[in-house]
Amino acid sequence: MKKLMIIVVCLYTGLLLASLVSADAGAAKLTAERCSGCHSTGRICEKLGNRTPEVWKQTVQRMVSNGANLTEAEAKTVADYLGTAKPGAKPLCQ
Ligand code: HEC
Repeated sequence: MKKLMIIVVCLYTGLLLASLVSADAGAAKLTAERCSGCHSTGRICEKLGNRTPEVWKQTVQRMVSNGANLTEAEAKTVADYLGTAKPGAKPLCQ
């Protein structure tokens, strides 16, 4: 019985980690896709790590008013990602 519990907990933790990693990869891909139409992602990369999540939220909102094609939910995903992404984060930065 104890063994079964351990297996279940391990499986659950594994799934949780896998979903976190792929959510982050999805957000990075979305950002690279939607934020490279008007300027290079280098413009974003030079600011990674220098802005609070709140300021990134404002930046993304400003890009939406500039014409970036993002739904409200996608804008949140991108802003959350940029708020935590490290300088040089792949695949956004070369
Ligand atoms: C429709 C065109 C367009 C798209 C798409 C776009 N941008 Fe921009 N971006 C601009 C323009 C125009 C400027 C310069 C004027 C300004 O800063 O608003 C700029 C400037 C920037 C800057 C430099 C200014 C600053 O705040 O430091 C950053 C960073 C930036 N964009 C991030 C992004 C991000 C993140 C995305 C994706 C959510 C994105 N951009 C998508 C048009 C766009």
